[in-house]
Amino acid sequence: MFSYSDELEKLDRAGLKRNPRVITGPQGARVIVDNKPALQLSSNDYLGLASNPLLKEAAIKSIEKYGTGAGASRLVTGTMDAHIELEEKIKSFTKAPSALLFNSGYNANLSCITALAGRATEVFSDKLNHASIIDACVLSRAKLTRFLHADVNALERALKKSVAKKKIIITEGVFSMEGTVAPLGEMAMLAKKHGALFIIDDAHGFGVLGQNGRGVLEYCGAQLEPFMLCIATLGKAVGSFGAFAVGEKEIIDLLVSKARPFIFTTALPPAVCAASIKALEIMATMPELRRRLWENIAFLKKGLASAGVGDITSKTQILPLIVGSADKTMQVSAALLEKGVFIQGIRPPTVPENTSRLRITVSAVHSREDLSFALTAIKEAFSEIA
Ligand SMILES: Cc1ncc(COP(=O)(O)O)c(C=O)c1O
Repeated sequence: MFSYSDELEKLDRAGLKRNPRVITGPQGARVIVDNKPALQLSSNDYLGLASNPLLKEAAIKSIEKYGTGAGASRLVTGTMDAHIELEEKIKSFTKAPSALLFNSGYNANLSCITALAGRATEVFSDKLNHASIIDACVLSRAKLTRFLHADVNALERALKKSVAKKKIIITEGVFSMEGTVAPLGEMAMLAKKHGALFIIDDAHGFGVLGQNGRGVLEYCGAQLEPFMLCIATLGKAVGSFGAFAVGEKEIIDLLVSKARPFIFTTALPPAVCAASIKALEIMATMPELRRRLWENIAFLKKGLASAGVGDITSKTQILPLIVGSADKTMQVSAALLEKGVFIQGIRPPTVPENTSRLRITVSAVHSREDLSFALTAIKEAFSEIA
């Protein structure tokens, strides 16, 4: 009989067994990790909104008004005015014609891709796209063609070869493990030329990139066009939970009727929507949060470059330091935690073999002292282990 304990042991021997660390108390620049205080440089709470008092107040008020759960799927009896209010807020923040909420970014990718792609579709997906995109493509039964990371020439060659009736191009806006930005303008032109739907997963760009925090499209000087669908999570820079897609009304209406991961799941709790609404208000009225984040990115990037701990090619708040082996990566991560800095090690299958890395993420709520402290610890840990 198949032995699950053997399988687990094999993972452990390969340095790939996961043992999540426990955070006690709120998220923020400093957290308690496995009962020890540490500087947090692993979170996607890029604007520090996850423990913002205004978001907490909004969620508490919402619980008092609505209770905790939505009680059913959106299509049964779970669509509440809180969902509609958040969708309206997202439309006005992104300037999009139509918006739909999902229960997470993972759910959003599964929903959109499986509803819009099928056996007659060819999906062109960047090789470094997130697991939720890959899983969704597999589940959709579409032909999956993966092109070299951010390589528009490779994408064009693949599009020219395609005989599929229906084509979808999909990319992350900001790549979650690289910090690189997709060449959106050129990809959009290719999508238009080849009659493809262009899906952008802006999980890490939304709230961070662009003058108004609208994300990668704004950053690239591009617009949301009728052949595009943009997805973003509410669980990262927004500091809340859930996700959304914005695009043409017909596409959004199609998702409501066809997207199984949207249809067959209980709707988001209204208090979560209330927190997201408040976060979007803060994001629209406090540009200083984004300004501080970008100042912190520049400071840490410069410090890492002069520390000589690796090439920093990222242009964003995600600053990966490639170590190579999974074991060594986890050793550096553990040494950093001993020094009071929490930077998670990222291993296969999240990243390709031999590219295990420390994924450093900066937030608007880090102080200069925090970042200087982190730089000293990183330098020491690398000289001791990597
Ligand atoms: C590119 C990308 N898409 C989707 C997701 C999933 O988002 P969520 O955490 O809201 O499920 C992530 C999160 O890790 C991501 O990095």
